[in-house]
Amino acid sequence: MTGTDTAWVAPANEDQLRAWDTAEGVFWAGQAELFEHSLQRYDDWLLRAAEIRDGDHVLDVGCGTGSTTRAAAWLAGSGTAHGVDLSSPMLMVAARRARDTGVGNATYLQADAQVHPFEPAAYDVLLSRTGCTFFADPVAAFTNLARAMRPGGQVALLVWQAPSQNPWFTELTTALAAGRVAPAPPLDAPSPFAFADPMRVADILTTAGFATPECEPVKESMYWGPDVHTAERFVLGVLGQQLSDADADTRARALTNLRRTLVKHYSPGGVSFPSAAWLVTSRKTA
Ligand SMILES: C[S@@+](CC[C@H](N)C(=O)[O-])C[C@H]1O[C@@H](n2cnc3c(N)ncnc32)[C@H](O)[C@@H]1O
Repeated sequence: MTGTDTAWVAPANEDQLRAWDTAEGVFWAGQAELFEHSLQRYDDWLLRAAEIRDGDHVLDVGCGTGSTTRAAAWLAGSGTAHGVDLSSPMLMVAARRARDTGVGNATYLQADAQVHPFEPAAYDVLLSRTGCTFFADPVAAFTNLARAMRPGGQVALLVWQAPSQNPWFTELTTALAAGRVAPAPPLDAPSPFAFADPMRVADILTTAGFATPECEPVKESMYWGPDVHTAERFVLGVLGQQLSDADADTRARALTNLRRTLVKHYSPGGVSFPSAAWLVTSRKTA
């Protein structure tokens, strides 16, 4: 693209489309700078692991507002980077930012990466920054992605480790719970934490046609904003769903808890929380 095509979505991914193409996607698109900054400390890990060379064709899965697609396009030089995502509002930002920063070899497409008919063997590198853990059928998705890759092509995925290793999630959701039970996202169903178990990741990738992956643990701080007010708005956009059925008292306590938690993590550099991811690398088998 620059412009978006109509998505063709696997029926089981329609809930994800509804979320990312409407309210959630609109919020992410509006906060693009903050979101891109929030995981920036992981970008160097991911891009080095992607081993992009001049002339490569790179596929960025769940590219969102496209910061990693733009970086991949720069590294690919005379090659290309193609970002695919379910979210039209986020892709519009991605296309605008590529244009504004003079990145002419990044293209974007609204598509369900699980079922999109990519050109076979078209890509040298597959990368994703937290964008590949929402598939209803991850084996089908990675089988489809394997078809799009040339034999020997490189895979680099950044995915979250379990919630217990991610204080940004546990501390923020505990604050918002205000004494109620904090959410426990599934580790084996579409969620940010669906690739938290390296055994499961290995199973998915090898069944799909990739070599046994390496999962390197990486810990970086995750940025939530320059000040507590900005971080509060950001957290409520990302995790505020947790308060959807809270009564007024619970909501007030949750917001007090949240501010206390954010103040605890504030420094002159802004509000940051510890986080932990897996850097998953593999290759498409011949
Ligand atoms: C957590 S966001 C990450 C966005 C971006 N990679 C980043 O790091 O800022 C997850 C992204 O995956 C996308 N996504 C979820 N399911 C998808 C699917 N089946 N096909 C393509 N993209 C998908 C969402 O629309 C969303 O933009």
